[in-house]
Amino acid sequence: MKKFINIALDGPSGSGKSTVAKALSKELNILYLDTGAMYRATALKTLELNIDTFDEEGVKTFIDDINLEIKYVDGAQRTFLDGKDVSEKIREPHVSMAASNVSSLRCVRLKMVDMQRKIADNMSCVLDGRDIGSYVLPNAEFKFYVTASSEVRALRRYKELVAKGHQVDLKELQKEIDQRDYNDKNRDFAPLKQAEDAVYLDTSDMSIEEVVSFILGKVKA
Ligand code: DC
Repeated sequence: MKKFINIALDGPSGSGKSTVAKALSKELNILYLDTGAMYRATALKTLELNIDTFDEEGVKTFIDDINLEIKYVDGAQRTFLDGKDVSEKIREPHVSMAASNVSSLRCVRLKMVDMQRKIADNMSCVLDGRDIGSYVLPNAEFKFYVTASSEVRALRRYKELVAKGHQVDLKELQKEIDQRDYNDKNRDFAPLKQAEDAVYLDTSDMSIEEVVSFILGKVKA
């Protein structure tokens, strides 16, 4: 019998998944795995090697041996690439678009999914991503599909980036979010989609606290 519980939180960029996932992991005292960070680190590696982010043959030259580690420092996830902490660097806007591109490559998804399943098999965790409930962990005990209108999501990301000192243009950000949504939903292999048995949550008019307490209510029930 399985000893651990897995909570899958899927949805498009900026839907609030990661904030909600962090709060849930704290509340339930289980691990939070931000799977997007793994795609972002792969994108950073691809950019560093000057490989085109849609070039599957190029990416295949390094993906099986990628030195990508997820560590937890004071309870927070840190992402290491080739031994270096890249947790901040992978949040830069140009890496976001590159991550959306590399995540459409089959060889990348196979590698990431394998790593994610190994983690989820060995501990209780809440995972946020695009394909967790539909592909990575179809048997997860709890599945939620968290979304919001693309205007609301762009504004949230804008505020987040400005608070971190980045200079960004809201219209440009909205265009990028729309493009990433399109990429994520239309790739051939394991696209962003709601698992049939996932609970749908539109958070456009909900606070983070409301979303967290809704999900906790379901999990604790
Ligand atoms: O959640 P995020 O914005 O950090 O994710 C970065 C990119 O990675 C996003 O464009 C989609 C992709 N991704 C994915 O394809 N599957 C996942 N499970 C997580 C992220």
